[in-house]
Amino acid sequence: MAETMKGLKRTHRCAELSSANIGEIVTVMGWVQKNRNKGGIVFVDLRDRSGILQIVFEGEEKAELIEKAAKLRSEFVVAIVGKVEARSGAVNPNLATGEIEIRAEELRILSESETPPFPIEENSKTKEELRLKYRYLDLRRPDLQRNLMMRSKVATLTRQFLADEGFLEIETPILGKSTPEGARDYLVPSRIHPGSFYGLPQSPQLFKQLLMCSGYDRYFQIAKCFRDEDLRADRQPEFTQIDMELSFVDVDDVIDVNERLLAKLFKEVLDVNVTLPIPRMTWQEAMDRFGSDKPDIRFGMELVNVTETVKDCDFVVFKGAIENGGTVRGINAKGQGGMPRKKIDKLVDFAKDFGAKGLAYIALQEDGTVKSSFAKFMTDEQMSSLIQAMAGEPGDLLLFAADRNKVVWDVLGNLRLEIARQTEILNKDEYKFVWVTEFPLLEWSDEQGRFLAMHHPFTMPMEEDLEFIDSDPGRVRAKAYDIVLNGNEIGGGSVRIFQNEVQEKMFEVLGFTKEQAYEQFGFLLDAFKYGVPPHAGLAYGLDRLVMLMAKEDSIRDVMAFPKVKDASCLMTEAPSVVDNKQLEELGLEKVAEE
Ligand code: AMO
Ligand code: AMP
Repeated sequence: MAETMKGLKRTHRCAELSSANIGEIVTVMGWVQKNRNKGGIVFVDLRDRSGILQIVFEGEEKAELIEKAAKLRSEFVVAIVGKVEARSGAVNPNLATGEIEIRAEELRILSESETPPFPIEENSKTKEELRLKYRYLDLRRPDLQRNLMMRSKVATLTRQFLADEGFLEIETPILGKSTPEGARDYLVPSRIHPGSFYGLPQSPQLFKQLLMCSGYDRYFQIAKCFRDEDLRADRQPEFTQIDMELSFVDVDDVIDVNERLLAKLFKEVLDVNVTLPIPRMTWQEAMDRFGSDKPDIRFGMELVNVTETVKDCDFVVFKGAIENGGTVRGINAKGQGGMPRKKIDKLVDFAKDFGAKGLAYIALQEDGTVKSSFAKFMTDEQMSSLIQAMAGEPGDLLLFAADRNKVVWDVLGNLRLEIARQTEILNKDEYKFVWVTEFPLLEWSDEQGRFLAMHHPFTMPMEEDLEFIDSDPGRVRAKAYDIVLNGNEIGGGSVRIFQNEVQEKMFEVLGFTKEQAYEQFGFLLDAFKYGVPPHAGLAYGLDRLVMLMAKEDSIRDVMAFPKVKDASCLMTEAPSVVDNKQLEELGLEKVAEE
C-alpha cells in the first residue's frame, strides 16, 4: 500500500537547491533515477523536471530508513525530508546540484513503478517508435522536459511582447468551412446536417482578416492548425502557429514588430543577440544565389550562372538546356577536388533525386591537373574561362546543372546543403535570419494546368506589377515575405488584398468562376463591401521555431504528443475505427472494409 503526502509539503524542486541552502531542512518529491546500495549507506538520485539531486541515507540509528531506501527502484515516486549538506564524496561538476546532497530523515514511497520499457535518460538510444508508444515516460527525459519548458517560455514571452505592442489575443473557430485551396483539409462530419462537413482550419487566415474588418486592429493567437499533407521531419498534421494580423500597415511595419519579437525571444530564451535589422533578400536573389526560397546563409557556396560563359561550347548537355530556354549554373565546393569518384557519383545520384538529368563536374586537383566529366567536349579556353567564372582554384570541386531554371535551382540548392552537411560546416550555435520578400504571386501547376497562389489567394500583388496580371500572370510579384532561419522557413505572411475588384481578379486568375469564388469565400468578399482597412499579417510555425532554438532535428522533439509519418499516434492509436452506430448518427456509411 503506497504512502501519502499527508503532513508533508514540497519545499523545493530538486535543482532549485544549491550550496546556499546548506543547513536547511527541505522536502523534495520526485522520481528515483537510480539508487546505489553501498552496504549500510544508500545513495539515491532523485529527479524532477528541474534536474537531479543526490540523497544520502546513512547513520546507525537509521537502519530501518536505509533498508527502505535500499528497496527503491527506478521510477518509484517518493517524498524525502532531509537536511541540505555539502557533498561528503566527490563534487559532481556535471550536476547543477553537484556540490550538495540531502541527508534523509524521512522517506515516503508515494507510488511504485514497474520496470519501464526503456531507461529514462538524456540522449536516449531507444528507438523513437517505442518512445512514442510510451510517450508519457519519454516525456520524463530531461532533454524533452527542457524542450517543452523552452516552448512554454517562448509562448509566454510572445504573449507578453504582443500584448505590450497592443495586440489582442482572440480565438477563432476550429470547426470551420472547408476551403480546399492549399493543403488538404481534415473534415469533421456534422451530425445535425447529415452529409455536411466542417473543415478544420489550416490557419486562421480568413477569420483574422475578418477581425481586421471588424476593427480589432492588431490580433494574435497561438493557434492550432491542421493540414492533411505528407509528413516530414519539420511537418505535422496538427501544428501550432503564432498567428498575427495588423491593420493600417505595410510590409515594413510587419517586419519591424516581428524583428523585435524575434530579438526578444532569442535574447531571453537563449541569450543570443539578433542583430537588427535582419537582412532582406528578394525571392529572385534568393533563388539566384542559393537556389532556394529558404536560403541557409550560414555559409557561401553560392550558385553562379555560367550560361553566358558556356553558351558557345559543343557540350550538348549545356547547349541543349540553353536552347530550350534553360540555364547552366554551378557551385564551387571549396577544397573538395580530391573527392573520390564514388562519392562524386553519389552526388550525381543525389542530384537526380531532385530532377537533374545528370551532374557535370570539374575536379581541380592540387597538382594542377583536372578531372572532368565533360572536358572532352570543351576547348581548353572554354574550360579555363568556365573555371575562372567559378573562381575555381586547385583543390576545388565544381558542379554544374543544366536545365530549366526551376530544376537547376532545386538541384544545386539541395546539393549545396548536402555538401555542407557532408563536410560538417554547419554550426548549430549560429543563428542566421533572413527575410525573403517579393515572392511571385502565382505559381504554375503542370498537374492542375492552372496557376496556384504561391502564398494564398488573399495576398496583395505589388502595385507596379498589377498591369501584367492578365497578360503575364507568372511575372507578377506579391507583397509576401517569409522569415527564414538557418535554411528553415519559420514564418510567412503578406499584405492582403483589401479591394474587392482585386480580390475578384485574383480568383479569376486562379481559375474560379465568380459563383465558385462566392460559394467558397462569399463571406469575405461581402465583408469587404462594408469598409475594410488595409491589413497585413504573418504566422510562425511555433514548433519549427522552437525546434531550431532547441537545436533539434525534428519537430516531434518539441511537441508533447506528436504523430508519426503515417499521421497516427502510436500511444493512443488514433485514428481508430468507430462503431457503426456512431457512423449511422452522422449519416455515414463505410463503403469498404479494410
Ligand atoms: P503558411 O502556410 O506559410 O502561412 O504557414 C505559416 C508557418 O507555419 C509553419 N507550418 C508548419 N509547421 C509544422 N507543420 C506543418 N505541417 C506546417 N505547415 C506550415 C511554417 C510556416 O512558415 N495564414 C498564413 C500566414 C499569413 O499569411 O499570415 C499561413 O498559414 O513555419
Ligand atoms: P553524358 O554525355 O550524357 O555522359 O553526360 C556527360 C556529363 O554531363 C555527365 O557527367 C552527366 O552526369 C552530365 N550531365 C548530363 N545531363 C546533365 C544536366 N542536365 N546538367 C548537368 N550535367 C549533366
